[in-house]
Amino acid sequence: MDLFEYQARDLFEKHGVPVLKAKVASTPEEAQKAAEELGGGTVVVKAQVKIGGRGKAGGVKLAHNPAEAKERAEEILGLDIKGHITHKVMIAEGADIAEEYYFSVLLDRANRTFLAMCSKEGGMDIETLAAERPEALAKVPVDAIDGIDEAKAKQIAVEAGFDAETAGLVTPVLQQLWTVFKEEDATLVEVNPLVKTGDNTILALDGKVSLDDNASFRHEEHEELRDIQAEDPLELKAKKLDLNYVKLDGEVGVIGNGAGLVMSTLDVVAYAGEKHGGVKPANFLDIGGGASAEVMANGLDVILGDDQVKSVFVNVFGGITACDQVANGIVKALEILGDNATKPLVVRLDGNAVEEGREILAKANHPLVTTVDSMDGGADKAAELAAK
Ligand SMILES: Nc1ncnc2c1ncn2[C@@H]1O[C@H](COP(=O)(O)OP(=O)(O)O)[C@@H](O)[C@H]1O
Ligand SMILES: [Mg+2]
Repeated sequence: MDLFEYQARDLFEKHGVPVLKAKVASTPEEAQKAAEELGGGTVVVKAQVKIGGRGKAGGVKLAHNPAEAKERAEEILGLDIKGHITHKVMIAEGADIAEEYYFSVLLDRANRTFLAMCSKEGGMDIETLAAERPEALAKVPVDAIDGIDEAKAKQIAVEAGFDAETAGLVTPVLQQLWTVFKEEDATLVEVNPLVKTGDNTILALDGKVSLDDNASFRHEEHEELRDIQAEDPLELKAKKLDLNYVKLDGEVGVIGNGAGLVMSTLDVVAYAGEKHGGVKPANFLDIGGGASAEVMANGLDVILGDDQVKSVFVNVFGGITACDQVANGIVKALEILGDNATKPLVVRLDGNAVEEGREILAKANHPLVTTVDSMDGGADKAAELAAK
């Protein structure tokens, strides 16, 4: 789960990372009031969207007094930043920035460890820095047990090229940020910029935190950080129906039974799609072992609700639930959906009671359904139909 900046700021504060006072507002009036409560001086109004580069997109603006804060909030609320609509702004005290740095610690899956990254050149887009001047970005592996202790923090600061005095200021903050990462079970803690102010204080001015959902069982308090509003509506609907569904951005809807089979189906659809103008799978959906007609109908309903979907590939290997039951499920699902079923369905059945299953589909003779014998053939047909 990715957090909003204000939520990251709260976690930073909880673990002693130096941050500025801030408040969240959903209306211009609330923004004005927040600015008053922060002392009535200069504040920054910041769009709360889960995407970087808000500054460049006009989502971070300075306001010299509460009346200006209201005006800036009016401009920023509702703003579309790379497809993310701004519903809230954070009003933060204005910082007197002398220098901007970069720091992050993340789960480095490829190397099976954690990785700290640090640069004296923060503020800008870190991907650009890493690509254009990789030597300016220190990358230091972090051991899971030792974490970022004082020695490791010093090593990171030295490798990033800080002078001795600044390194001394930055070191404790890096340790505190590690505490956030470890205690909150995060997979990413990023601060860009980490700043030094005119009076030599280090502050985390921006924060990006991703929490590890696999650890949510030991963090009941994280549940309230979830943002229902921003969740994908199809994924939300699928979650309510208890379906194992992940939205992707292609055109071929996919339904299968068993996560392994569905994963391979995504691969063969993507491969087949290359021959048909580059169409791709639209989703992952595993309807599991004992898929009833109702589950099939729910699955189809979610997939057909995706405007991007042009065709659906149902790829089922009959096991505990035999193919005849699956075929009945498909027929009943199409009955239940009625006029809501509008897109062509390619069905590949194999395994237990495959002949009976195919016969049921043949008898039903639904105009939208095409049956195929093989997984590759099905992927190809579904991709072809999606490309039309
Ligand atoms: N509280 C603040 N006071 C002064 N300047 C700020 C403050 N917060 C952000 N800024 C400035 O705005 C820039 C962009 O803000 P940031 O929070 O990093 O958003 P983003 O990374 O999404 O563009 C920062 O690099 C910093 O220069
Ligand atoms: Mg930033």
